[in-house]
Amino acid sequence: MLQMLDGTGPGAAVVINRADYLAPAYWIDTVDLCFDLDPVKTRVLNKMTLRRNPEVPAQPLRLDGEELNLARVLVNGQGTSFKMEGGQLVLCDLPDAFQLEIFTTTCPSKNTKLMGLYVSNDSFFTQCEAEGFRRITYFLDRPDVMASYSVTLRADKAKYPVLLSNGNLVAHGPLEDGPNGARHFAKWVDPHRKPSYLFALVAGQLVAREQRITTRAGQDHLLQVYVRPGDLDKTEHAMVSLMHSVAWDEARFGLKLDLERFMIVATSDFNMGAMENKGLNIFNTKYVLANQATATDVDFSNIESVVGHEYFHNWTGNRITCRDWFQLSLKEGLTVFRDQEFSQDLCAAPSARAVKRIEDVRVLRTAQFPEDAGPMAHPVRPDSYIEISNFYTVTIYEKGAEVVRMMQTLVGREGFAKGMTLYFERHDGNAVTCDDFAQAIADANPASDLSRLLPQFKRWYSQAGTPHLQAQGVYDAAARSYTLTLAQSCASTPGQPAKEPFVIPVSLGLLGVDGQDLPLQLDSETAPAAGTRTVVLTQEHETFTFVNIDAEPVPSILRGFTAPVVLDFAYTDAQLLHLLAHDSDPFNRWEAGQRLAVNQAVNAIKNIAISADAACTNVLNDAYLDAMRQVLRHPSLDSAFKDLVLTLPSETYLAEQLDVVDPQHIHAVREAMRQQLASALQADWEAVYEANHDTGAYTPDPVSSGRRALAGIALTHLCLAAQASGDTVWPGKTLQRFKDAGNMTDRFNALAALVSSSHPLATQALAQFHAMFKDEPLVIDKWFSLQTGAPDRGGNILPAVRQLMKHTDFSLKNPNRTRSVISTFCQGNPAAFHRLDAAGYQFWSERVIELDAINPQVAARLARALDRWSKLAEPYRSQAHQAIARVAARTDLSKDTHEVITRALGQ
Ligand code: PHE
Ligand code: ZN
Repeated sequence: MLQMLDGTGPGAAVVINRADYLAPAYWIDTVDLCFDLDPVKTRVLNKMTLRRNPEVPAQPLRLDGEELNLARVLVNGQGTSFKMEGGQLVLCDLPDAFQLEIFTTTCPSKNTKLMGLYVSNDSFFTQCEAEGFRRITYFLDRPDVMASYSVTLRADKAKYPVLLSNGNLVAHGPLEDGPNGARHFAKWVDPHRKPSYLFALVAGQLVAREQRITTRAGQDHLLQVYVRPGDLDKTEHAMVSLMHSVAWDEARFGLKLDLERFMIVATSDFNMGAMENKGLNIFNTKYVLANQATATDVDFSNIESVVGHEYFHNWTGNRITCRDWFQLSLKEGLTVFRDQEFSQDLCAAPSARAVKRIEDVRVLRTAQFPEDAGPMAHPVRPDSYIEISNFYTVTIYEKGAEVVRMMQTLVGREGFAKGMTLYFERHDGNAVTCDDFAQAIADANPASDLSRLLPQFKRWYSQAGTPHLQAQGVYDAAARSYTLTLAQSCASTPGQPAKEPFVIPVSLGLLGVDGQDLPLQLDSETAPAAGTRTVVLTQEHETFTFVNIDAEPVPSILRGFTAPVVLDFAYTDAQLLHLLAHDSDPFNRWEAGQRLAVNQAVNAIKNIAISADAACTNVLNDAYLDAMRQVLRHPSLDSAFKDLVLTLPSETYLAEQLDVVDPQHIHAVREAMRQQLASALQADWEAVYEANHDTGAYTPDPVSSGRRALAGIALTHLCLAAQASGDTVWPGKTLQRFKDAGNMTDRFNALAALVSSSHPLATQALAQFHAMFKDEPLVIDKWFSLQTGAPDRGGNILPAVRQLMKHTDFSLKNPNRTRSVISTFCQGNPAAFHRLDAAGYQFWSERVIELDAINPQVAARLARALDRWSKLAEPYRSQAHQAIARVAARTDLSKDTHEVITRALGQ
C-alpha cells in the first residue's frame, strides 16, 4: 500500500471508466500563481477563487496533487483543517464561494519524469497534459475545469533572463537581490480561460527569432520561436511553417489567431513531439530545429506538420477542449486531420498531395492496424484506462483523423467547413465530447449521408478493431454488367467480442482494357457519371451492379483510402499490373505495387520452412521487375511517387499479413527482394541516380525532396548491387557523395546506403559523421539510430546496441536519445530484436525496468515492443511471453508500465 501514497505504482492502479463521468463539484474561476524558481526548491503560491457547482450534490473539495510538499492552506485568508486521501488534498465544510490559497514546494531538478515542472539544460520547462499540473500545485486537474490564469515568475536574472508563461506580458522588472545576485520577475495574464493541462511556463537562457505579422483580418501579432543560444540559425523553417499555419487556418476554416503573441519554445528533453499550451507551445527540439546542414527533408516536413498541428490546436483543443480524457480524439483526431490537410494544401501539385496521403496511410497501416489487432486495442473513444498517458496512441491520433476524414468524405469539403463553423458557434469556450463534434458536422449538413446515418457512423468511435472489407466482382458479358459485392466484418478485440456493421465510404472506379476509367452507371440509374464515385456501405453485405460495360473491367476499390479498413480482393497479378500501369487514382496505383510485392513476399515466407535457399532466390518475378523498371523509366511520374512505389512493404507490414510471424524469415525474404531489385534494375538505378542527384540550391519543397529521396533509394540499391557483384565503384562514389554533400538529406542517404549494405566503408563514414556533428544532439540521434536500426547480419546489432549504450553521448534520461538507441532497436528493427537466443527480449525487459524508474511514459512506450508476441512463431512466442512475465513480476512498476504489461499478458 505504500505506493498509493504518492499516487504512483500499481498499488494505485485504479481503472477509470468513461461511464462514471461526473461534473466537478466545484468550479475554479481564477488562478493566480506565483513561482519562485529554483532548481532544487521551487516555491509555488497558488491563490484561487472557487465556487460550488450547484448542479452537483454538496460534497468536500478534493484537489489532485502528486510529489508536492505542502506548506500552507488558507480559506478566505484563514488557516483551515484538511486531510490527505489517496494523494488528494481534501477540504470539508466550505462556503459556496471562497478564496483558496495553497503554498507548496517542488524539486524540478529531480523530476526525471518530465511531467510538471522540470529542468532541462539549466532551463525550466513544464509539461501538464494530461495530468502534470497536479505535480505543480494542488488543483482540480481535469480538462472540464476552465479558469483564468495570471502568473508571476520570479528568478535569478543572470541564470534565467527569459521568463515566459501563457498569454500577455503585463509587467516585468527587477526584484531585490538574492543570495546569488540580481533577481527579476515577469507577470503574464492569459486573456482566455483554459483547463490546467494547457498551463505552461518557461524560464532560462533563450533567444528568439521574431516575426511580426498582419493577418487577412488586419490584426497584428508577434510570433516568436525561442531556442538555446547557438540554435537561432535553425529556426527559420519553424517560423515559416508557423506563418503558413496562421494563414491556412484563417483561409480554410476562418479561424483567426486570438492572441497578440504566439510563442514556440524548444527543449531537448521532452516525452512527446510537442505541446499546444495556450500561446506558449513547447516543442521537442526535433520538431523545431532545422537547417540544410543538420536536418533531412523528412525532418523539414515533420516540422511543418507538427508546428501546424500545435497551432491548429489553438482552436481545436484549446478554444473547444475535451470534457474528459476519454474524448482525447475530439482534439487529437481532428487536429491530425487538420495538419494532414494543411500539409496537402501547401503542396502545389496534385501528385504531391497524393504522396502525402500515401505516407499518412502507410503510418496508419504499419502502426495503427497492429495496435488495433493487439492487446492494447481500444476504440477511438476508449471506455476505460488506468493511465491516460498510455492512450496517446496511433488509434486516438491517426485512426481518429481517419474518422474525421470519413465525415468530410460524407458531407463534402464545403459541408465539412460549414460543420466546423457550427461546432464553434455551439461550443466555443467549452469542454465537450466526440458526440458534440459529430452532431455539429451532421447538423450543418442535414441532407448528407452522415446526418442520415449518424448513430451507426459513430460506431467508429465506440468499436475497436480494423474492419475487413471483402470485395468480389462478377462480370456478366451477356448482360454487359459488372456486379461488385462488398462485405464487411471486424474481428473481436479485448472486451468487444462482437461488432456491429460500420458505415464505410468506399470510393471506386472501374478500369477498362485500355486503362481508362469507365463511365459508371448503377443499374438503378438512367445515365452514367464519369470517373470515381463513392458508395456508402452500411450493411454486412451489399451489391452494386454497374451497367453498359463492354468488357471485364479491373476494379479500383477504396481509392484514396476512403476508410481505415483492410480491403480483401483476390486480384490476379495481371489485374494488379494493370492498376499499377494505369490507375488514375495515385493511391491505388501505389497500392497495386505494394500488393504485388506482398503477395510474392508471403509466398516466399511460406516456402522458407521447406527450403530457405530456394525461398530466397528469385522472390520477385519478371513481370514485377519489369513493372518496377517501367515506373523508374516513366517520363511523367514524380520522383517522390517513384520512391514510394520502389520502397518495399516494411517487415512490420509484412508481419501483419501473416497469421504466424517468424521475424527472421520475413527479414531474409525482404532482404532477398531488396537484393534482387538492386541487381535486376542496376542500370535503371544508375540512370535514376544520375538524373536526380543534383537538386541545386537546397529547398525542402516536395519536388526537390522527392528527387533527393529517389536518388537516395537508388544509391542504396547500387551499394547493394555492388555488394553482390564485388563492384567497388558505387560504394566509392557513395563515400564521396557522403563527403561532398551540400545538405543533410544527401549526406545521410549516402551514409545510410553504406550502412544498409554493410559495406566496410561504412565504419569510416560513421566515424567521420560523428566527428562532424558531435555538437548537434539531433544529428547524433540519427547517428545512433542508423546503427541500431541497421539490417541485422548474423546477430551483430544487439552487441552494437550494448556498445553504443556505453558511448559518452548516451543517456537514458534523455527521451530522444533513448528512443534513437533502444526503441529503434526494439521497435524498429524486428530481425535484430527477435533473436533465437532470446537475448533481445532479455535486453528489452532490463531496459523497461531500468527506464520505468526514470521515466514511466517512455518506459511504457518501450514496453509495447512485445504487443504482438502471441502472433510469433516458436520459440519466439514462448520466450517473449517469459520476458513479459518477468517484467510483470516486478512489484514496483509505474501504473503506466503496469497497464501495458498486464494488457499484453491478457489480464
Ligand atoms: N497534445 C500534444 C499534441 O498532440 C501531445 C502531448 C501529449 C504532448 C501529452 C505532451 C504530453 O499535440
Ligand atoms: Zn495534438
